[in-house]
Amino acid sequence: MSFGKMPIANGFLTPEQYPEEYFFELGTAFCPHCKMVQLTELVDERKMFHENYAFFSSTSVRMAEHFQRFAKGVMKDYLDPSDPFVVEIGSNDGIMLQNFARAGVRHLGIEPSANVAEVARGKGIRTISEFFNEDLARRIVAELGQADAFLGANVMCHIPYLHSVAAGIRILLKPRGVLMFEDPYMGDIVQKTSYDQIYDEHAFYFSVASVSHLFGEHGLEVIDVLPQNVHGGSMRYVIAHKGARPVSAAVALQRAREEALGLHRPETYDQLRRNIERSRDELMALLRDLKRQGKRVVGYGATSKSTTVTNYCGITPDLVEFISDTTPIKQGKFSPGAHIPVRPYSAFQERYPDYALLFAWNHAEEIMAKEQKFRDAGGKWINYVPKVQVSA
Ligand code: SAH
Ligand code: TMP
Repeated sequence: MSFGKMPIANGFLTPEQYPEEYFFELGTAFCPHCKMVQLTELVDERKMFHENYAFFSSTSVRMAEHFQRFAKGVMKDYLDPSDPFVVEIGSNDGIMLQNFARAGVRHLGIEPSANVAEVARGKGIRTISEFFNEDLARRIVAELGQADAFLGANVMCHIPYLHSVAAGIRILLKPRGVLMFEDPYMGDIVQKTSYDQIYDEHAFYFSVASVSHLFGEHGLEVIDVLPQNVHGGSMRYVIAHKGARPVSAAVALQRAREEALGLHRPETYDQLRRNIERSRDELMALLRDLKRQGKRVVGYGATSKSTTVTNYCGITPDLVEFISDTTPIKQGKFSPGAHIPVRPYSAFQERYPDYALLFAWNHAEEIMAKEQKFRDAGGKWINYVPKVQVSA
């Protein structure tokens, strides 16, 4: 499927930068052999992850709690009591590793985006700013030894050279060490038509089948899978050296669910494309209708996902007045491609719109809990996942 020309999802910019704005063709394809869904054109990682990276993990309180639970589980189940060592890639502002640092566990964060890595260092988290690959894995083993746990959240699917990453992890893990990572799950995308998970940073859309195939080629095996309700539906994969640990029954069970859902069949993705097109048409019809009625519509959360929605659907600033976001680096800038102004949260609070288009739908629970006043003032929400609908 092609989503057309797309800018960098987190490339919030100023009008002076419009002439040099970078666009590429956002397209996805399914491989019936390895069962992977992936982008057909890749963006150079240095265009996305750099010293002005706009995504700071700790903007969500719920995600901080989620990663605290994740870290506690690792400490309880997977650390060798004598000199444990934990490595995390894509450690961002330290949202996960802060838990290990506080517990005095030896750790290393690998975070190429220098600005977010600096925030982590400020919290006392040991972080290096490099892209992880096999070569870096060798250097880490030589300097710091092998790891008990190798972690990654919302980063593994970002890395096009996954074979080098898998080879590096194999070198880096102790004989009974585990790789644990989580990413948005293809099963959820199919079931919820959450096509906004598709953007430049997400090179891959994983399923248990595709992950098993990939890591299997590197002597590693999936020993457990744990569905997560964060980020609109994610899957956590636990992976170990082949034969090193027992394999949970959950792995075969989830693979059977995937077969039932048809994740192994190209026709499933044809149907997904039709569902996406319908979702776009319904959202645009709604926004145009609200404009005709003279209603004010404001976007809630300048997520990377919203870049796909605004550009694919053709949402312009005359339909959505601005997008409210709590991240300072995004405020005062304009959204990639669609050039909708991004304003601080105060702009939303001080003058409620008639409708809030929930771009940060993956944080709906956290947001609904704090926006009672907006509802009391008669404000309505527009959601588009799993289907386009208006709610009070
Ligand atoms: N783990 C955090 C951050 C996810 S955003 C969370 O779940 O909230 C993805 C992060 O991965 C970015 O901070 C980006 O800079 C980093 N990243 C991208 N490519 C990487 C690579 N090859 N190695 C390590 N980190 C990478
Ligand atoms: P994410 O979907 O990639 O996690 O990004 C969420 C974006 O939404 C991020 O830019 C912060 C913003 N946000 C708000 O503006 N208000 C909120 O209450 C939450 C949870 C997020």
